[in-house]
Amino acid sequence: MASLSIITAPDPRLKVKSELVETVDGATRELMDGMLETMYRAPGIGLSAVQVGVPKCVITIDISRDDEPNQPLYLVNPRIVRFSEEIALYNEGCLSLPEQFADIERPEGITVEHLDYHGEPQSLEADGLLSRCIQHEMDHLTGVLFVDHLSSVKRGMILRKLSKARRQEEIA
Ligand code: NI
Repeated sequence: MASLSIITAPDPRLKVKSELVETVDGATRELMDGMLETMYRAPGIGLSAVQVGVPKCVITIDISRDDEPNQPLYLVNPRIVRFSEEIALYNEGCLSLPEQFADIERPEGITVEHLDYHGEPQSLEADGLLSRCIQHEMDHLTGVLFVDHLSSVKRGMILRKLSKARRQEEIA
């Protein structure tokens, strides 16, 4: 697959609601391979297909540290079936919002059901960074960015910064 490029905000393509994958077939796996490669290259720990312009419910994640072997995780059609009551605060970033970070509150733990790389159903219990990453990536599937959890003032500041950075890139 040709290398994929990551869409940066603000962009209407990031607001599109992703569709469920009917069958995890060769084309889906090719998409996942391309996404993983793109995510590693960025580098990032999570990517949703909509961020590369494919509005399908497909997510790649790898939260392994640099000194650990890669541990790619593929989530197709993920569905959260349990949220913990405990809420955690975590400083989030996003490949579609380069160099922007903000503290976001979310449930600490989740259980997520999904299909894996081979289309097999899986159930995954996650907390900490993995839970955070899955929740963040799943937001993308409904067109939600982490800045959408902030006040409109803070969100506006970040999006204006990104628009300005992009204009400067276009001029340069
Ligand atoms: Ni993101």
